[in-house]
Formats: sequence, structure tokens, C-alpha cells
Amino acid sequence: MDTTHNKGKEPMEKIFVFDTTLRDGEQVPGACLNPREKLEIALQLARLQVDCIEAGFPISSPGDLSAVKAIAEKVKGPTIVALARAVREDIETAWEAIRKAEKPRIHVFLGTSDIHIQKKFGTDREKALERGIDALKFAKSLCPEVEYSTEDASRTDPEYLARVVEQVIAAGATVVNIPDTVGYAVPQQFGKLVAGLREKVSNIDQVVLSVHCHNDLGLATANTLAAIENGARQVECTVNGLGERAGNASLEEIAIAIRTRKDYFKFHTSVNSQEIMRTSHLVSRLMGMPVQANKAIVGANAFAHSSGIHQDGILKDRTTYEIIRPEDLGITEHAMILTARSGRHALKHKIGEKGYELNEEEFEAVYERFLSVADKKKRIYDEDLDIIVQDVIFAHLADTRLYSLESYKVSTGNGKTPEARVRLSREDVILEASSPGDGPIEAIFKAVDKIVGSFHKLEDFQVKAVTETKEALGIATVRVSREGFRALGRGSSTDILRASAKAYVEAINRIHHFLQHHSQGCGCNNKCAHQESPATHSAA
Ligand code: KIV
Ligand code: ZN
Repeated sequence: MDTTHNKGKEPMEKIFVFDTTLRDGEQVPGACLNPREKLEIALQLARLQVDCIEAGFPISSPGDLSAVKAIAEKVKGPTIVALARAVREDIETAWEAIRKAEKPRIHVFLGTSDIHIQKKFGTDREKALERGIDALKFAKSLCPEVEYSTEDASRTDPEYLARVVEQVIAAGATVVNIPDTVGYAVPQQFGKLVAGLREKVSNIDQVVLSVHCHNDLGLATANTLAAIENGARQVECTVNGLGERAGNASLEEIAIAIRTRKDYFKFHTSVNSQEIMRTSHLVSRLMGMPVQANKAIVGANAFAHSSGIHQDGILKDRTTYEIIRPEDLGITEHAMILTARSGRHALKHKIGEKGYELNEEEFEAVYERFLSVADKKKRIYDEDLDIIVQDVIFAHLADTRLYSLESYKVSTGNGKTPEARVRLSREDVILEASSPGDGPIEAIFKAVDKIVGSFHKLEDFQVKAVTETKEALGIATVRVSREGFRALGRGSSTDILRASAKAYVEAINRIHHFLQHHSQGCGCNNKCAHQESPATHSAA
């Protein structure tokens, strides 16, 4: 038993945190991360000190395979997990992806509910069980750590579920996961299901019992907590609760609930709470998925007290209305850090302190951009620096960049149709076009379309300020589609029109890169621009 002590008194058992942001979370429509972005998130998850990172579903695309491989090779600390259906080829590919990891784990899943067995596989319970056991044995012959998931467990006959669990343990599973795949469970009932397995399955003590809850009824965190009270010791979750449909159980909610209510739960996790906010921001930005303001733990309003009575209480003593200290989540009062005169050395030091590893070329690009932002913005806060660094390492990936924004000009005013003139460069050639639009941003996007010679459908567009100061950096996120392919683009600037133009050009570059490479059959499936990639939940 992995235990720690509560102020040197009571032993507290450990709950293992299994993060699936890069697999289940990445199934969110339009989330689409490229391998470099996936690696950066995995490195941050390692800093967050999760126990396991489910890095992907390698059979789903060559791009995912290479992303999982890179994570397995470079990320030290957590167990690296790859997902596979109960299919030989999936399992071989999963093993190929993770075999170089410090601690690899293959995760095999197969439906156990009659709905899945009959409607998806067209078979019966016994044959499905046989298939699962065969797959598990094969995975075990490759990798010592194998997790088995009984997909749709919450809608499965509990007697059959217990039989499956017992047999997969006998066949060598080291972790057995009980998913509430469709978010159907309610806490008491789900807790009972887990307690029932602990009672009925004779060899249950040989494995770590895990749960994986979806949020369709808004109960994912509650179901997960009910499960640990009844014997589950691994929780599968995602940063910001991202995931299929309404999402997965949220990592930060579970970790902070266990921490804040240790008097009740008497468990601990290894999550470093100081890294929670930074992880949330990174995932939100790279996936282009904003966090709702009232989201527990990481929402912008999670610590904002607006009623007079509450404000008064907080001023007298913070514990009157605050159960979590924002500083424990790594939330700082915008520590002002650098100015244009800070110099290279201070910048390098700060970047290192924040955990980024940049090569010389990247550092030079960051320095140049830092100077240009500092010129306009005067004070550079921690949050600004994150955006500047991330812009350099993600947005300017040379292999996806065909067009660059050189300049733009918009004329607009009361009662006047906005007109934009945009200059892009493509392989040292300057291309220029003008267009009117309903608003200045639409005019810019239309002018860009004219230059690249194709129409892109704008699926989503958002602009957000990084800090709450007047001269804040703005981040624009756009999702565009063309010929059934979708792509995400991000751009930042103190000027939101420029940030929007940069984001639009980046999204177009990604679509262009994808269309070009894939029409040549290069096999490098960059999911950042993708048609429908095989979805886990319908693929088994
Ligand atoms: O929700 C689910 O059942 C899954 C499995 C693959 C674990 O994501
Ligand atoms: Zn899931």
C-alpha cells in the first residue's frame, strides 16, 4: 500500500492520477494538437507530477504514433500509456510507440455491456470475453504493465462485469479500469458497483482498480470521488475536464477535492498543486479550448468574490469565504518581471526558471519578440512571457509555415465599410490583396483568402487578453475548415487585429501543409488539420 501521513498522524493511502488529456481530451472536436504540442503538454504533466500520462492512441494515425514515441522517449517520471483496441495490430503499434519509455503501459479496451457486445461487435458475451483475454495475453507478452478497460462498464450486467474483471486479472492485467463511458452513472450507484467488484472478485487485490468517468450528467468528479471511497485507487481524468462530448472528470477538481477535504477522504495524490494553473493555461491555449469563467478551481472567477458581504468577510479573514488558497494553485498576483531593459541574461534566467528548454535559435526568436512586445507594453508579466515563448516554439514551426504575415492596414470608421489591405510573404515573394468586410477582422480574413486563392470557412474565432492591464497582449484563436479539413491557428499581439491576422494565417498554413503532404501520401498524419480520424469510442 502506498501511504503517506497526515501531519505525522494518520496514514493516507495514495490515489494514482492517470491523465488522459492527450488521448481522451484530444478527441474533442477541433482540439487537434501536433506532435510538438503534445510533447510540451506531456512535459508539463510530468512537472505536475501525475502518475501516468496516456499519450495517445497510436494506431489512430502515424502522427499520433510519432507523438507517443517522442513522449515515451523524452518524458521521464510518469508511466507512459498507449491505448489499443483488443486487436493485435493496435497492440503491436501501441508497444512500438511506448517500448522506450522508462515505465511503459499498454491500455487495452473492449466493451462489456450487451449494447456494445451485440450492437457494436455483433457477438455474444462469451466470445467477447475470449477476445479480451486473448488481447490482454498478447499485450502482456510484450509489456509487463497492462491495463484493461471494460468499456461501458456502468451499463454492464454487474455479474458479467465481475467475471470479466476476475478473468483479465488471472490473465495478467496489472490495472483494471471501470469506465463510465457514456456518463450514465450516479455517485451512489457507481460507488456500489466498485464496492461490489471488491467483494465479488476473488483476485481483486492483485491489481490497481481504476475508474474513468465522463461528464454527460455533470457527475464525473462526483462519480470518481464515490469510486475512491469504495476502493478505486487510480483515477482517470483530464486537465480542464476536456474530453469526448461533455468531457472527462477534471484532474484539478479531483486532486484539489482530495487535498482540500483530506479530513474526509484521507487520501493523497502526488499532484504538485502549484503547477495546476500553468497546466490549465497551456492546455487551454494549445487546444484552443477556453476555460469557462466559473469552472471550479481553474476558471477566471473561481477566486473572484463579488458580493459586498463576501468581500467584507474576505478582507477580515480569507477563510470566511475561501476554502482553497489561490497561491496553492500557482496563481500569483501578476508578478511583474521584465522590461525592455532587462537584457538577455535576465530573460534566459526567467525562461529557465519557468521550465522551458529552448535551443539557441528559439531563444533568439523569443528575445526578438520579447523586445518588440516590451517596446509597446513596457512591463512583461509571467503570463505574457508564457505566450511569447509558446508562440515561438509552436506557431512558427518551419515545416508548416508557407505564408507569413508581413503587414496589414484597415480603414474603417462610422458608417464606412471596412477595407483591409494585407501583405503576406511566400518563399520571399510578397503577395498583396485588398478586401471589404462586414467588420475589420472579416475584411482581413477575406484579403488573406484572396492571396492564398481559396475560401476558408471560419468555424470559430475568439480573442482574449492575457492580463487585465490596458496594454495587455491579446491572444486570438481561430478554427477554419476547407474541403472537410479543420485547423486551429493562434496568434498574439498587443494589437488584436494583428493577433487575429496571425492566427488566421497560421490556421491556413496548417491546412495547406496537411493537404499538400497528404495528397502526396507522405504518411505524416498531422492531426492538426484532419478529416475524421478514427475515434476511439466508435472504433472498437
Ligand atoms: O470512455 C471510455 O470508455 C474510454 C476507454 C477507452 C477507457 O475512453
Ligand atoms: Zn473515455
